[in-house]
Amino acid sequence: MGEQDQALLSQCPRIDDSFAEGSEIAIICDDVLDACHNLRSESFNLIVSSPPYNIGKSYEKEVKLDEYLAWQSDVITELVRLLHPKGSLCWQVGNYVDKGEVVPLDICFYPLFKKAGLHLRNRIIWHFGHGLHASKRFSGRYETVMWFTKGDDYTFNLDDVRVPAKYPGKRNYKGSQIGKPSGNPLGKNPSDFWEFVANEWSDGVFDIPNVKSNHPEKTSHPCQFPIELIERCVLACTDERDLVLDPFSGVGSSLIAALKRNRRAVGIDRSQDYCDIAAKRIRDYYDGVLRPRPIGKAVHKPTGKEKVAQIPLEWTEEQNEK
Ligand SMILES: C[S@@+](CC[C@H](N)C(=O)[O-])C[C@H]1O[C@@H](n2cnc3c(N)ncnc32)[C@H](O)[C@@H]1O
Repeated sequence: MGEQDQALLSQCPRIDDSFAEGSEIAIICDDVLDACHNLRSESFNLIVSSPPYNIGKSYEKEVKLDEYLAWQSDVITELVRLLHPKGSLCWQVGNYVDKGEVVPLDICFYPLFKKAGLHLRNRIIWHFGHGLHASKRFSGRYETVMWFTKGDDYTFNLDDVRVPAKYPGKRNYKGSQIGKPSGNPLGKNPSDFWEFVANEWSDGVFDIPNVKSNHPEKTSHPCQFPIELIERCVLACTDERDLVLDPFSGVGSSLIAALKRNRRAVGIDRSQDYCDIAAKRIRDYYDGVLRPRPIGKAVHKPTGKEKVAQIPLEWTEEQNEK
């Protein structure tokens, strides 16, 4: 039975607009700080989000970098209060670009999380194949996910996110285990480099396409997460029935990732439109209408025969004339 079929067996739980003890799903339409003030300390096992990047998207007002980081610092203080002692916080960021100068946001954020007492476990590179084409610098093709824990005793379900080894037949050539298989029958550690490649099973790295217009999960939100990116964080950092919070939940991608894996989910976003889309996507998911990419599914690789994969005739004609 597939992941989607399992969800189809259960009905969509009630979607609350505020979080109470019995809530399975809550989508809180409010300012992040106001909403967080009403939530109980140490109650979330995973907090995962992509904050506004202060780059003037439709849902944010661009301010000076210092002002932006001071606001984010207040948000982080609140989130650390909400985080369970064994919990994790995954913060996905890209770059803020100021008059063509790139400011890597993870570098700005790291001291804020450190000051708040969190411990960095991985800085994951999420590489994707599409995006804007730059003309005065190299085109940006990765963002990062900073994974922090609150303490040294934390949930990490490595076996739930292993990927097939490239060479499962490798054997130990010395030591007490000589001659025995050297790998793990469940696969290998997926590493901190989650790449957009054609065949995850042979390359053994996470394969997560950037959400673009031809992606089945795309909505009107300009920066939504691929569900499978968060699904990996959910599987690795939480157990079933745990509570997952996305404090900037947009159209609910993190919430769907959590629900898909039988976790409880709370989202906060100040846009009523995005909250409404998130609720609809969740209902669509349970109705079998929204079909997220199965985690780890190989990304389409052109055969070279497609029209778009061929060199335009004009270019070859121009070449011939020279
Ligand atoms: C980068 S987007 C997150 C998108 C989300 N990961 C998804 O997959 O849909 C940031 C979100 O933060 C929300 N936002 C911006 N400022 C906020 C605030 N002060 N309080 C709550 N939400 C805010 C925006 O409406 C936007 O949807």
